[in-house]
Amino acid sequence: MPGSEEFVVTPYEVKGRIDYERLRELFGTQELSPELLERVRAATGGDLHPLLRRGVYYSHRDLAALLDGHAKGHPFFLYSGRGPSGPLHTSHLVPFELCRWFQERLHVPMYIQITDDEKYWARGGLTREETASWGLENLYDILALGFDPKRTHVFFDSRSIAALYPLAIRVARKIPYSTVKAVFGFEPSTNIGLVFYTALQSVPCFWPSWAEGRTVPCLIPCGIDQDPHFRVTRDIAEGLGYPKPALLHSQMIPGLLGENVMSTTGDRADNALFLNDPKAVVDRKVRNAFTGGRATVEEQRRLGATPEVCSVWALWRTRFAESEEKFREVTDGCRSGTLLCGECKSQVLERIHAFYRRHAEAREKVKEWAESTIVTTAPKPL
Ligand code: TRP
Repeated sequence: MPGSEEFVVTPYEVKGRIDYERLRELFGTQELSPELLERVRAATGGDLHPLLRRGVYYSHRDLAALLDGHAKGHPFFLYSGRGPSGPLHTSHLVPFELCRWFQERLHVPMYIQITDDEKYWARGGLTREETASWGLENLYDILALGFDPKRTHVFFDSRSIAALYPLAIRVARKIPYSTVKAVFGFEPSTNIGLVFYTALQSVPCFWPSWAEGRTVPCLIPCGIDQDPHFRVTRDIAEGLGYPKPALLHSQMIPGLLGENVMSTTGDRADNALFLNDPKAVVDRKVRNAFTGGRATVEEQRRLGATPEVCSVWALWRTRFAESEEKFREVTDGCRSGTLLCGECKSQVLERIHAFYRRHAEAREKVKEWAESTIVTTAPKPL
């Protein structure tokens, strides 16, 4: 398999230069084609979300079938999650932003899983208190995007276990150890918490069907690194009498230091914009960000630069270009050499600061109702 050794993408490790088409083939997922996007547009009314239009979401499983069901009047629900290992950064908002948009357009329920258990098991350096308190902080940031309090439900693993466990018991029995070992690459030294954990990430896919006693299809917007969990889920779904969840996969968002993921694991805080970074820190990080611009102004004016390798272009693409027109202007200006990196950074910084201000206000408001979204009881004992 030429090329397959050059990068690794699993829920617990992302490394190397990712060839996204190759990854899609390796994972066996489907291409998010223009035809399918047109169907999403028609079903949601109005324009497509920029994350769909700009190709950040690029792959799926069974989206066509989900849309068929929706057209026939079978409502679906949304599900995504967050492993709380620290403060959120802007790229963590990518799945939740798409969910918020679907909820606004279609008024569908949203289930959010906060996996404070998973992160405690997966990351040696974190205490239980830390993962639990980051879980709550992260939840405020997620809800502040604009989720509807009446239609949004949260499984905060350590606090929602009584609601999840009756179904987790049944899910766990269907998953052989050999499957998780092969799918996640677990070692003999991997703790058994992580071995069990994938059962808990599957449970929300089935929970509404279980609770309502009828089939409720599930759509999961997530980073493509999470696909392995849901391959396991999809394999066992029918044996449990539930529909396979549909998925929409995004690419990983490049980090500010020019790495292909905005991850800060290890000692790389400058690779990402944390939502709690003070203004001066945001300024410094963006000013120092990797751009792939030319060595001199003269060269850049003459030859232009390459937006696709630039971490600042990734910021425009994933959140900060407010219109397609602005996005095109930045992209074309970069490529042709008319927009230089310093000016481009000033423009994006203005938008980042404005977003941070709005976000901080919205975040204070959700604190009033965030607790009420946490599901703590099972709909029935079995
Ligand atoms: N495992 C995910 C993480 O490490 C958290 C998560 C739980 C999740 N359920 C999910 C992510 C559903 C996407 C979709 O961040």
